[in-house]
Amino acid sequence: MITKKSVSRRRPIAVGNWKMHKTVAESAAAARRLSRLLSGIRRLEVVIAPSCTALQSVGATLKGTRLRLAAQNLHWENEGAFTGEVSPVQLKEVGCRYVLIGHSERRRLFGETDNVAGRKVSSALRQGLNVIFCIGETLEQRRADQTAAVVREQLEKGLADVTGGSSDRIAIAYEPVWAIGTGQTAAALQISGAHEMIRRQLTEIFGPDSSEAIRVLYGGSVTSDNIAELAGIKNLDGVLVGGASLQTDGFAAIVKILDKMKRQDEKEGSEKCIFC
Ligand code: 13P
Repeated sequence: MITKKSVSRRRPIAVGNWKMHKTVAESAAAARRLSRLLSGIRRLEVVIAPSCTALQSVGATLKGTRLRLAAQNLHWENEGAFTGEVSPVQLKEVGCRYVLIGHSERRRLFGETDNVAGRKVSSALRQGLNVIFCIGETLEQRRADQTAAVVREQLEKGLADVTGGSSDRIAIAYEPVWAIGTGQTAAALQISGAHEMIRRQLTEIFGPDSSEAIRVLYGGSVTSDNIAELAGIKNLDGVLVGGASLQTDGFAAIVKILDKMKRQDEKEGSEKCIFC
């Protein structure tokens, strides 16, 4: 039975990670269209993460809309001799409210360790940014039954300096590496199992009250075709979408389906609760 406790009070969220795609002009045009298509969305939080070059222009486009801007990476220092890097202060200046940290592509292709991700998380929070912290196991790790241990280590090291007071500015994106960009979405049972484990680990790290505010998202080959099934997973607070977020209308469709299903969940939950 659905009870008030089992229906999340966390605000659901959909994030579009455009990775290294789109020019500045294309990004601004997509942001403009998205904000028009999604102007009716009230409950779901919608965040887009364009390339670094497009942050300023997309930030200006989103001003005054309900859509939020995210960066895909940052450096932990506020300024200094760090060629090629961008600081949290610079990200805030162009309108970023969110930043992705620890994405598996950063870990795998650019050697980002759990400890580096942890320094970035602390710095982002200190500067008032919201963090979408990405974790997830490789196929080899899953096959070797190491998923729980891998995820635990990523959480412990990545969130090492986070105190309970700022936990409401963290979202965890569970993105199994084998599901990213492969078209092989994790099965609903695998996702809900992983989310349950992550929620348990967050409770152990932060305690029940502070961990309750942390949203847990799924990412990995999310599309407008599979979003309805994913949105039905009760302990899923949102999605992090890569490839499918590049198609503006397709991403808008994903957002609308997720919003509708999560509102429905909440309605059913509070209706049931009257009789609890
Ligand atoms: P895809 O949706 O393309 O699998 O990418 C997922 C992802 O990495 C989002 O950050």
